Parts: sequence; C-alpha cells; structure tokens
Amino acid sequence: MIKKFLQFPDNFLWGTATSSHQVEGDCGNNDWSPSFFVKHKNKLPWCSQALEKIPPVGQACDHYRRYPEDFTLLQKINNNAYRFSLEWARIEPRKGEWDREAIAHYRVMLLDLKKRNIKIFLTLHHFTNPDWLALEGGWAKRKAVKYFCRYTHFVAEELGDLVDYWLTINEPSGYVYCSYLKGFWVPLQKNFFQGLKVFCHLAKAHRRAYKIIHQTIKSKFQRTATVGFANDVQAYTNYIKHRLLNQLQVYFSYKISNHGFYLLTGKKTHDFLAINYYFPVRLKRRGPSTSQTTVENEGRRITETNWLIHPHGIYEVLVDLAVYKKPIYITENGIATDDEDLRKRFIHEHLEEVYYATGAGADVRGYFYWSLLDNYEWAEGYRPKFGLISVDSRTQARQLKPSALFYAEIAKANGLWLDY
Ligand code: BGC
Repeated sequence: MIKKFLQFPDNFLWGTATSSHQVEGDCGNNDWSPSFFVKHKNKLPWCSQALEKIPPVGQACDHYRRYPEDFTLLQKINNNAYRFSLEWARIEPRKGEWDREAIAHYRVMLLDLKKRNIKIFLTLHHFTNPDWLALEGGWAKRKAVKYFCRYTHFVAEELGDLVDYWLTINEPSGYVYCSYLKGFWVPLQKNFFQGLKVFCHLAKAHRRAYKIIHQTIKSKFQRTATVGFANDVQAYTNYIKHRLLNQLQVYFSYKISNHGFYLLTGKKTHDFLAINYYFPVRLKRRGPSTSQTTVENEGRRITETNWLIHPHGIYEVLVDLAVYKKPIYITENGIATDDEDLRKRFIHEHLEEVYYATGAGADVRGYFYWSLLDNYEWAEGYRPKFGLISVDSRTQARQLKPSALFYAEIAKANGLWLDY
C-alpha cells in the first residue's frame, strides 16, 4: 500500500460553522419562532401552516449562554476559525431600536474568540428575520434592503474592530428556493415572481452592505474589511450527454445557481468567495426537468437527508470558480448521519478533492465543517445530525464524536493521509 500526505497551504483555516437560530435557543422574536406563528396567524395566513409544518426550535443548543464551553471544544479539536451568525431580531427587536445588551453580548463573544486566537467569520443574515420585518412583507419588499443596510451599519460600527471576515447573506439562492419557490421554509411561499424579487433585493442588499462595511470600518477603525457572502453551490450532471437540450439545461442551471448572485452583484463586491457545498444536482433520466438527488440514485451512497454523496463535485465547483481569481473559503460542507465512519469518510473524501482543486489553481484558504454541534435543522427539526459534537437535548451536555477527533487530527497536521 502506498501512503501519501496531502499537505494543505500554510495558514490554512480549519473551522466549523453554525447559525444563530439553529444553536442559540430562545431567539424570541424572529419569523421562525413558534410564538411568532401563534401571534400572527390571523394577520399572516402562512403562520397557521407553519404551526403544523415547522418543528419548534425550543432551547436549541443553548449556545447563547454556553458559547464559552463550545469555544473550548473548538480549541480542543484544533480549530483556528469559527463561522457563526448574529440574530438580527435580538439586535433590533423593534424597528429602529437597538438592544444594547444584545450587541454587548456578541461583542463579548467575539472578544472571547480573539483571546483564543480563533479567526472570526461573521454572518449578518442566516435565513431568519426580525418579526417586524416579516410583518412588513420580509424580503419581498424593497424596504428590506434599507433596513438591512441600517442594521449592517450599526453592526459594523459596534463590532467592526473584531471581525476578520464578513459574510453579508447566507445562501441567497437556497433561501429563495426553499422559502419562496418550494415553500417548505418560512414564509412557505410558492411564487416564482416573488422569489425573483427576493433574489434581486438580496443582491442589492449585498452590494450596498459591501460598501457600508468597507466605509464604516475604514473611517471608524482605520482598517480594511474583508467582505463576501456564502454561496450555495452544486455540481450539475446530466444522464444523456449527447442530448443538446440536456446539455443546455445543465449549463444554464449551473450558471444561474452558482454564478447568478455574482452576476447580479458584480465582481467588485466580493473580496473572497465563500462556498457551501453539500451535493450534486442530477437531471432526471428522461424529461427536461431538474431533480434533487433523491430520484435516481442507482443505489449510491446517500445521507440521512437523502442527499447524494459526490465528493468530486466540490472539485468541479472550485476549479470552475477559480476564474474569479479570488481567495476561496469553503464555509459549509457536511453530512447528516449517525454513522461516524461515514462522516469521517465524507470529510476525508471531500478534503482530498479540495486538495486536488488547489493543485488545479483554486486558491482555497479554509474549510468549515457544518456543523460544530448537532442542531436545529430548519423544517427537519432535530432529527438530522450534522454535528461533530452531540448535544443532549435534556441536559445540554456536549460530547465529542469520533469524527470530531478525526477532524482535529487533520487540522493539527494541516493535511491528511491518503492510502491507496
Ligand atoms: C444552511 C444551514 C443548514 C445546512 C444543512 C445550509 O444550506 O446554511 O443552515 O443547516 O445547509 O442543511
């Protein structure tokens, strides 16, 4: 057997990612909260459906209070970076009113990470909105852009000296797809034109927020900010290569979903590319419509969320995105499973492909496993387990899984062994 060590670039960032609503617990007044659905079911018809379809979030991982313990675990698994999001509804609980305690809380969190020498990737919007914004029509309304900019400016002023990398918006295409086209996420809409509007508003919000963050940080802290957004990307494949219609479909689906937001926002509003990769999208054997991976898997390996495991897809996407000539960070990649051997293999195989992509010209500088903790998985509730660390929902006790130790070894060695 031949053994080979795949050495990652110096200063490579090894991290994990979370988002506020999925881990903090008790986010109170955002549009994913059961109390919001109850309170507004007469005003917003989708709230009654949400009460049936959206599992209650409850205390999640109580990360809002237990973050010091979680940061200690981050260090234990040799992570030198952490990606998380702010809960806008905590910071601006009423339109135009800032909650000083909430922003001070996040500041203490960031200072704690700094003390531990952990690089900070901060997301401003990860799917949830304050209740007042949802009541005004959310991102389907143009004024959401103005509100988001005001919030961005406030956060940049308050935390701008501590953030290493800014992510304005998490997965604009995923948000539009799940919340406005398929309607399985809040606000449970199935309306193409509304989805299109939301996508354009998110693009406008990113463009403006990019400028606001740069200007605020330059003038207030005399520093240069590093700003991007987290793009959900997929590898696209077709069944029948020689069918022109299929090929065109692959081409356009790929362009729209992986490059659409870059095209709308322009090259100058991204200091780096942040990508979230989980699965490939394959066209159905017959017919022109694209399908999620569940349809024709031919007995291949799938995850608990029925996603096809296709590590080479991350290579394809990375090499393709190298055309932008920007540093790339993989801000999410992970698997829902109870099988720890499968999780370890998933991480290993994806990192192997990331390594080859760097050899092919992609300037990859960091990798974040999703997720640090077993957490609230949106419409799926607590069943899918993405975490490297399990959380007992009754006692909140944390336990490192074997995959956490496996990932810790990779981070420590700044690379991985390959046997073949
Ligand atoms: C989202 C996360 C989610 C993960 C797994 C990503 O698209 O950013 O919030 O938990 O996928 O489904």
